[in-house]
Amino acid sequence: MEKREGDNCTIDLNTAQSIKPRRNTGNLSNLNMDMQVTSTPEAAALFSLHQAHHFGEFECSSEQHCKQDLFPKWHLPMKIASVISFLMFIYTSLRDVIYPFITRKENAFYKIPILIINKVLPVVSITLLALVYLPGILAAGFQLYSGTKYKRFPQWLDRWMLSRKQFGLLSFFFATMHACYSLCYPMRRSYRYKLMNWAFQQIKQKKENAWIEHDVWRMEIYVSLGIVGLALLTLLAIASIPSVSHSLTWREFHYIQSKMGYLALLLCTVHALVFAWNKPV
Ligand code: HEM
Repeated sequence: MEKREGDNCTIDLNTAQSIKPRRNTGNLSNLNMDMQVTSTPEAAALFSLHQAHHFGEFECSSEQHCKQDLFPKWHLPMKIASVISFLMFIYTSLRDVIYPFITRKENAFYKIPILIINKVLPVVSITLLALVYLPGILAAGFQLYSGTKYKRFPQWLDRWMLSRKQFGLLSFFFATMHACYSLCYPMRRSYRYKLMNWAFQQIKQKKENAWIEHDVWRMEIYVSLGIVGLALLTLLAIASIPSVSHSLTWREFHYIQSKMGYLALLLCTVHALVFAWNKPV
C-alpha cells in the first residue's frame, strides 16, 4: 500500500484510485477552485477520497488539530494592536477621567464606555495603518543600503512584511468601530444634557447666536475626510479578499494596495490633524 504525506494528513492513494469519481460538477469546480489543481492523478485521487469519505480540509484528527497553529499571521498584528490599545486606554483614562477626579472631584467615569474607547480606536487604527506601509519603506532602505535587491531581508522585517494584510484588516476593523462610535455621539443622554446646559448658559449670558464659524468648518472638514478615508479603507479591504484579488492583474492590485492605501493614510492623518487643530495634545 503506497502512502503519500500531505501537509497534515496522510492520503491512501490505492483506496483513492479504486473509487470512481462521480460527476458532480458543482462540487468538483469548488474543490478545484480551492485547491488550485485540475487534472493530475493526485488531484483526482484526492477528489474521489473527498467525495467518498467527506474528507474535508477541516476534518483532521484531534491530534492534528492540536498541532495546527491558530491564525499564525495574526499573532504579531494582534499583539501590537493589544499593546497600543492598552497603553492608549491607560493614558486617556488618566488624562480625561482620573486627573479631573483627583484635582477637581469631577465625576467623568461615564466617559469610559464611549468617549474613552473612541479615543483608543482611531489611534490604534491609524497606527496599524501606518504599520502597513512602514515595512515597505524600511525594505527599500535596506535594499539601498545593501546595494542589491537580491539579499534576504532580516527575519523580523520578513515576518512584518508577510503580515501587512492582517495589519490593514485590523486597522479597517478599528476604523469601522470608530466610525460607529463617532456617529452615535449625538444619541447619548449625556450629550443631550450638555446641550441643554449650554443652551441655558447662553440664555443667561443673553447670547442669541452660538455659531462659531471656524468650529463649524473644522467639523465639516474632518468628518468628511474621515468618511472618505473609511471608504478607501473599505475598498482596500474588499480588494484583499482572495477571490477579488485573484481577479485583478498584478498592476491593478498594486495600484489599489499601494496608491490608494497611501491616499487613505494621508486622508486619515489630515482628518485627525483637522480634528485637533486647536486642541492641546
Ligand atoms: C465615517 C468615518 C469617520 C467618522 C465619522 C469619524 C469621526 C471622528 C470624530 C467625531 C472624531 C473626534 C472624536 C472625539 O471627539 O474624541 C474623530 C477623531 C479621530 N479620527 Fe475619525 N472618523 C472617521 C474615520 C476615521 C478613520 C478611517 C480614521 C483612521 C484610520 C480616523 C482617525 C481618527 C483619529 C486619529 C482621530 C483623533 C482621535 C483623538 O486623538 O482624539 N477616523 N473622528
